[in-house]
Amino acid sequence: MSSIRNDSAARCLRIPAFVFAIAILCAPAAHAQGVQRSTAHIAYDSTTRIFRLDAADTTCVFGINEHQEIQSLYWGARLPDSDRFAAAHSRPGLASFDPPVDTTPQEYVAWGGGLYVEPDLKITFPDGNRDLVLQYVSHRINGNGLSIVMKDISLDVYVELQYAIDPETGIIRRSAQIENRTSGPFTIEQAFAATWNLPRGNDYRLRYLTGRWAAEDTVQQQRIEPGKIVLESRRGTTGAQNNPWFAVDRDGNSDPEHGSVWFGALGWSGSWEIALEQNQVQQVRISGGFNSFDFGYLLAPGQSLETPYFYAGYTDQGIGGASRLLHRFEIDFILPHAPHPALRPVLYNSWEATGFDVNEAGQMQLAEKAASIGVERFVMDDGWFGERNTDHAGLGDWFVNPQKFPRGLGPLIDKVHSLGMSFGLWVEPEMVNPDSELYRKHPDWVLNFPGRPRSEERNQLVLNLARPDVRAWVLSTLDQLLSDDKIDFLKWDYNRNWSEPGWPQVPPGQEKNVYVDFIRNYYGILQELRAKHPNVEIESCSGGGGRVDLGVMRYTDEVWPSDNTDAYDRLHIQNGFTYAYTPGVMMAWVTDSPTWVNNRTLSLQYRFLSSMQGSLGVGANLNKWTPEDFATAKRMIEQYKSIRETVQRGLLYRLIEPANGSEQSATEYVSRDGKQTVVFAFLHSSTELYPYPRLFLRGLEPNAQYRLSAMDGKVSGDTPAEASGAWWMHHGIDLDLIGDFQAAALTLERSTGDR
Ligand code: GLA
Repeated sequence: MSSIRNDSAARCLRIPAFVFAIAILCAPAAHAQGVQRSTAHIAYDSTTRIFRLDAADTTCVFGINEHQEIQSLYWGARLPDSDRFAAAHSRPGLASFDPPVDTTPQEYVAWGGGLYVEPDLKITFPDGNRDLVLQYVSHRINGNGLSIVMKDISLDVYVELQYAIDPETGIIRRSAQIENRTSGPFTIEQAFAATWNLPRGNDYRLRYLTGRWAAEDTVQQQRIEPGKIVLESRRGTTGAQNNPWFAVDRDGNSDPEHGSVWFGALGWSGSWEIALEQNQVQQVRISGGFNSFDFGYLLAPGQSLETPYFYAGYTDQGIGGASRLLHRFEIDFILPHAPHPALRPVLYNSWEATGFDVNEAGQMQLAEKAASIGVERFVMDDGWFGERNTDHAGLGDWFVNPQKFPRGLGPLIDKVHSLGMSFGLWVEPEMVNPDSELYRKHPDWVLNFPGRPRSEERNQLVLNLARPDVRAWVLSTLDQLLSDDKIDFLKWDYNRNWSEPGWPQVPPGQEKNVYVDFIRNYYGILQELRAKHPNVEIESCSGGGGRVDLGVMRYTDEVWPSDNTDAYDRLHIQNGFTYAYTPGVMMAWVTDSPTWVNNRTLSLQYRFLSSMQGSLGVGANLNKWTPEDFATAKRMIEQYKSIRETVQRGLLYRLIEPANGSEQSATEYVSRDGKQTVVFAFLHSSTELYPYPRLFLRGLEPNAQYRLSAMDGKVSGDTPAEASGAWWMHHGIDLDLIGDFQAAALTLERSTGDR
C-alpha cells in the first residue's frame, strides 16, 4: 500500500497506486489553517528499531521493544527531524496484578498472556486454545505506506499491520490483515483495525456523536475517566445512535480554534466499535474495528480477514481544525473521484411532496416547476415500482409499476433531461416486503433463524447480502435498471436495522461471518455498479443519517443526514454532522412550512439559508407554492450557485454553535483559494432588546482587503463596504437581526493582492 487514497478507485480505473502518490504531491496547497504543503515521510531506524511517520503537522512514532512488541512512543504535534527517540523498552508492570503487557502501550495487541486491557485480536482455536501473543517479524516501507508483519509465538497466525499517511493532512489510515496459515480453521472473536495511544494523561475530554431517527448527530462530550467508554453499533449497519467518529482534547479547553485534538473515524458500514479506555497507568487507548458483540469470523486455512480502515489525525488547531482536516481528507482522498469529486447539483426530491403517490403526469409537473427555479437534478423517490402504494408492499420488485407509469420511465426521464436536469431514482435494494413477488419466490433470502420469528420493521425484512446468490441478484437488478433507462443518480436507502441475523445455509460455525461478508458484498456491489456505470452518482441514505461513515463514503457521492427537514432542527443536526463530515456531501432540502416534523412555521428565506450551508436541495410540494415563493427560490438558488464551491469545498468555521440552547448560531466558509467567504447567521428569538452578537470572522488574511455584500438580511449602518481581514476578524460585524427565526447571509470577496 503506497498511498492512502481510495484503493477501489485505483482498481476500477486501473491506475497504478503510485500515480496517486504523485496526485497527492500535486494537490492544491492548504489554506490558512496551519496545514503545510508537504510530503509524508516514513523512516525506520535499524539501530533503535524505531519507526517514525511525519506528515503535515503530525508525527507518530513506535518501536520494536525487547519482547518484539510494537510499542507506541509518540503521536501528536510534528517534531523537528533532529529529535531522536531512544529504543522502546516495555514498561514495568504494577505488582503482580498488571503485567508489563498491560502497562506498555502497544500498537496492536492480541488477547494472550496476562492481557486485561481491550485486545485488538482474540481467536479461539479448534483445540480449545485461546492464547495469542504477537511478535514483530518484518516490515516494508512503500512510499507513504508501511506494513509490519507480526506472528504468534508458536502458531502460524500472521497479522499484517498496515499504515498509510496522507501528506496533506497527516491523517493516518490503519488496518490489520489476519491470516490463517495453520492447518485448521479458527474463529476470530474480536478483530480491531488498530489501537491509538494518546500521550499518557488523565485530563482528556471525548467528543462523540449520538442520535436516533430524525435527531441525528448530537455532539456529546465527557471526561475520559479511568475505565472504558464504548461507542458502537450492534445493528448490522452504521446506525444513527452513535456515529463512528471521535475527537479527544484536553478537558476544559473552550477555544474551538486552538489546542491539541486527536480525532478519528472508522470506515465501516456494519456493526462497529470504538473503545476508549483509560487504563491503570493513565494511558488512554483508542481501539476500533468490527464490533466484538456476537462476532465470530470463521477463518479457513489459507484465508485472511482484513479489518475496516481506522483513520485518525492530530491538530493543534482545536476542534474546528480537526473538522477541517477531516473535510479536506474526505474530499481529497475518500470520495469517489477524489481529489476532484464533482460539486453537488441543486436537487429536487419528490418524497415530501407526493409520498408513494407518484405517476408520470404528476412527476412531470413537478419537474417543470423544479427546472423553473434552477434545480439541476430531479429525483423521484419511493413508490414507482412493484405494488408500492404504501410501505406494506413492493420492496424487492424493482420493475416499473405499470399503472403509475404505463409508458415506463422513459418519457419522464426524457422530459427531465429536456428540462436540462439529470434524473435520479430511489431504491432500497437490500430490503424486501413479505408482500412482494421477490419474497414469495425467495423466502429463504432474508436474514433469519429457522423456526424463530422474523421481526419486521416498516413491514420489511433484510435480504442476506452475504449470500452469493443475493449479491448477484442485487447487482444484476440494479445493473439492469441503470441499463434500461438513462438514470443519472440513485438514492440508495436502507430503512431498518438487522434482527435475527441468521444465515442457515452455511454451517453453524460460519453463520456469524454475515457481519463481515454482508458489508463487503454491499461495498462490492457499489464498486462494480460504479465501474459499469461510471457516470451514475449515488446517495447513501438510511431513514435519514443511519449510514454515514468513511466506509460508505468511498463509494457514494453524497449522504442524507436526516429525515428531519425542519430548518431549525437541521441547524443542530448539520452542526454535529460537520464535526466529522464535509458539508460537500451533506444534502439539505428546503421543505414545506409548517413542517411535518413539529408544525413549526419558518420563512422560505430562513429555510433556504439553513439548507444552503450544505448541498442544497428542494423537497417541497411545488404545486402549493405562490409566485412569490418561486421568485424567492429562484433568487436563492442562483445565489447558492455563486457560493456553492466555497460551501462544499471550503474551510468551515463555527462562529456560534447552535448548542446548549443557544439563541443564535453562525457558520463561516472560506474558499480554498481564500477569495470568497460566506457567513450564515441564524436567530432563534430576540429577548430583552439584546442585539445579535457581533460576529468575529476567522481564517482571513489580516492584510488583504475584503468587500462585503449582504446576500440576505442587513448589516448595521456603520459597517464599511470594504475592510481588511484584520478588521473583519477583530472589529467584527454587527447584523441587524431581530425577531423570531430570522436569518441572514453575507459574502466577502477578497480584492486581488494583499494591501
Ligand atoms: C426513508 C428516507 C426518506 C424517503 C423514504 C421513502 O425514510 O430517508 O427520505 O426516501 O424512506 O420511503
